[in-house]
Amino acid sequence: MSERTFSIIKPDAVAAKQTGAIIQMILDAGLTVKGMKMIQLTRAQAEGFYAVHSARPFFKDLVEYMISGPVVVSCLEGENAIARYRDLMGATDPAKAAEGTIRKNFGKSIEANACHGSDAPETAKVEVSYFFSNLELVG
Ligand code: RTP
Ligand code: MG
Repeated sequence: MSERTFSIIKPDAVAAKQTGAIIQMILDAGLTVKGMKMIQLTRAQAEGFYAVHSARPFFKDLVEYMISGPVVVSCLEGENAIARYRDLMGATDPAKAAEGTIRKNFGKSIEANACHGSDAPETAKVEVSYFFSNLELVG
């Protein structure tokens, strides 16, 4: 079943000039880009996006990190895109991520881990529409 997911190339990866390499990995994995843009998250946007983690001890640091520089947000599409992109990203902690994954190649720490991907169909819908209007998505 073709579905959409939401991706963020996080500030550490954008700052390290790894954006192009990560997009290439996404394309090589057979996922299609329906929309993409570089943005600087505001504090309110980052807090809203990660609201599900607001009670976690790492929340404050996570928000500071996510607003520390520009990010590249995208809407990706493909068969089982949500699970396939999670597989391509690898484990949250780059030290535990499998060979050939984005986080293994480019993650710097459990926090500065290069990318985000939606974890379920419901969150994918909410996250795509958090950053994109329908007019900004092709097809
Ligand atoms: P994401 O939401 O970014 O795709 O990552 P995930 O599902 O693999 O991990 P999640 O548990 O949802 O955590 C969200 C992000 O918070 C940061 N984090 N820091 N310091 C820590 O222990 C810690 N744990 C998580 C990471 O940036 C993680 O991706
Ligand atoms: Mg998550």
